Amino acid sequence: MKATVIKQAWNALKNAYAPYSNFRVGACVICHDQTCYLGANVENASYGLTCCAERNALFAAYSDGKRAEDIAAVAIVSEAKQLSFPCGACRQVMIELLSGDTPVYISNHDREAVYTVKELLPAAFGREDLSNV
Ligand code: THU
Repeated sequence: MKATVIKQAWNALKNAYAPYSNFRVGACVICHDQTCYLGANVENASYGLTCCAERNALFAAYSDGKRAEDIAAVAIVSEAKQLSFPCGACRQVMIELLSGDTPVYISNHDREAVYTVKELLPAAFGREDLSNV
């Protein structure tokens, strides 16, 4: 499963549209039924409209009807010399759309690391907080 999700994230990276940063990122969301949803970063001349690879993969999974309980793991890969960790916005999206204990594999050509969603965003703001008023 780990090998598959990371391999598929590398496949996704090939479709990155990153003419401004030249920083290509690929992501894969793998489900318990083995379905894979791929995402690559898609940039825009209006930079703020760029969408990260992992958000695109997660939104693809949700758009196809998958939900947190269906998702087994996520992988995020980049060609950078150092491991490239998910940005804050993606961590917030992951807290919303994944279970806290879902593993997130982060890899480049040299090494890999794994964190749970909760480890990536401790003390998060979530839907429970909205009812605390
Ligand atoms: N990027 C991602 O796709 N995922 C991340 O978690 C970090 C950043 C993309 C956005 C942008 O296209 C490029 O990397 C440089 O920031």
